[in-house]
Amino acid sequence: MCGIIGFTGNLEAKKVLLGGLQALEYRGYDSAGIAYVDKFGIQTVKTTGKVSNLLEKVEQSNGLDSNCGIGHTRWATHGGVSDTNSHPHSCGNVTIIHNGIIENYHELETELAATGRHPISQTDTEIAAMLFDSLYQGDAVDTIKKAVTKLEGAYAFCILFSDQPGVIYCIRNGSPLVATHATDGSFIASDMVALIDYSKEYFVVPEKHIVTMTADEIVVTTLTGEVIAPKMLYVNWDMTAAKKGGYPHFMLKEIFEQPDSLRNTIMPRIKKGHLPDFSTDNIPDSLYDGINRIIITACGTAMHAGLVGRVLLEKLVRIPVTVEIASEFRYGDPVLDSSTLVITLSQSGETADTLAAIRLAKEKNAKTLSIVNVKGSSIARESDYVLYTHAGPEIAVASTKAYTAQLSCLYLLSFHYALVKGMITEEECANYIGHLQAVIPAIEKTLTLDKTIDEICQSLAKTEDLFFIGRGLDYALSCEGSIKLKEISYIHSEAYAAGELKHGTLSLVTEGIPVISLATQSNVYSKMISNIREVRARGAMVILITNGHLDVEETIYDHHIALTELDDLFAPFTAAIVLQLIAYYTSVHRGLNVDQPRNLAKSVTVE
Ligand code: G6P
Repeated sequence: MCGIIGFTGNLEAKKVLLGGLQALEYRGYDSAGIAYVDKFGIQTVKTTGKVSNLLEKVEQSNGLDSNCGIGHTRWATHGGVSDTNSHPHSCGNVTIIHNGIIENYHELETELAATGRHPISQTDTEIAAMLFDSLYQGDAVDTIKKAVTKLEGAYAFCILFSDQPGVIYCIRNGSPLVATHATDGSFIASDMVALIDYSKEYFVVPEKHIVTMTADEIVVTTLTGEVIAPKMLYVNWDMTAAKKGGYPHFMLKEIFEQPDSLRNTIMPRIKKGHLPDFSTDNIPDSLYDGINRIIITACGTAMHAGLVGRVLLEKLVRIPVTVEIASEFRYGDPVLDSSTLVITLSQSGETADTLAAIRLAKEKNAKTLSIVNVKGSSIARESDYVLYTHAGPEIAVASTKAYTAQLSCLYLLSFHYALVKGMITEEECANYIGHLQAVIPAIEKTLTLDKTIDEICQSLAKTEDLFFIGRGLDYALSCEGSIKLKEISYIHSEAYAAGELKHGTLSLVTEGIPVISLATQSNVYSKMISNIREVRARGAMVILITNGHLDVEETIYDHHIALTELDDLFAPFTAAIVLQLIAYYTSVHRGLNVDQPRNLAKSVTVE
């Protein structure tokens, strides 16, 4: 939600800020703006729409001769999408950009009215600017300290004071910020994708610490004034990973990156003669001691990966597993204690509800393990243990490579857990690992189906409703296929457990309705075929996806996609690729913005 960038140094601020905002645009794309310091003071340029609109506006405003500034790309929460509501916001001496939500902004607004300050926008951010200005008497650090005692909610702020040119102050609580000092100056952003052109070394801004950035240095202090040296981290991907690299969209590039992202995630964890090994992740075998129940909690696509994980863990470890939507879990008064292992999944590592779920689990003494893509993110830092997915930066809003990387971690975890608990032998475990490795070439082969899928999607693009059906693992996959399609094609779709169809939903199946039918699991294959016949009898257009080794009668489908043959347990990987490509090409045929679908954002740091 919202992208932030700040720079002070010896480069042209315009270039750093606009380049950074383009890289961060996936975080929010309702409007964008920058504020920069020049010889006349602080200047602001902002506009609704994309960063490209801002670029045009900046080009029209002559000048912009500056080496210090802040920039923002917005995902609206408080106040509609308008130029006025766009960031930066100013009041008196202060100009700010903000990511997060100030929950008590209404009370603050009433208090500040007494000082003669009244907002012109509908945003909580402008109230924060008014608050900073009301407290400012020349000492920025003191102002921020006082403001923090009054602000409730999540925030990441970059603040300019008009009488301190060349200095940027920042503070965060809940919302992400990373910073780096490089040869060209000091940089701060919501995400390293905006800074990778300048440095591979960075630090995560510690929560509720004040960051003072000048061209020469970045100083981080606690609220009591103690200077601290933040822990430095290194990005293990390069610039090309954050660019489209010849693909028309980030989503397609990320779909095609999956053999690599899986290789990177799986291979370092296979040791000792084809057995899973988490020693470099610092996950001890004792993690599983005394656990009699697992709860997997996450949001969106990550939660759907959890649905697959449940099947695996229950099958192999024989331990009860439930999957909870994080926003429900956190307010649901769940039964938790030290015998519960709470597993969270998150690409960004910053999703507000997932983070709150971990905090709740820890409060109730449950053990916590997170599967996270972004190094040093809040969820990674706050969990007892972390398994990193090495998917690299995922820029398209619709998650693809992060999902399959999460699946691969859940598979490795299930094998490891089952082995440690003596539920499977070393030989069986090595056999499972062999199947997992076989997934990588199978995905490479599945990707060659993209032209076939593209053609099928020409007709899908014309529909307004469709269904995904499946049983067992295929039902878990259907949920993911359905959300992927909805997100980027805006077609209404539902995922249904195939056996449940006739308890209501079948009444919606009429002539020509597409039903994407997943039938990769031998144990329920004949049941699936019966369900497919039921929808076909009502005129449905059936797109059938099967595991390569299953026999298929031509009379039951309109289109058939046979996946490269894999052991049934591993079919979710190849099936996921097909579903991602279906969503992608359907969106392309509808002429939509695949990477930045309406109303959505990549990293959801608000509730
Ligand atoms: C947003 C994204 C989804 C993602 C979900 C959870 O809704 O658009 O793609 O699955 O958040 O995000 P996380 O970063 O926690 O995986």
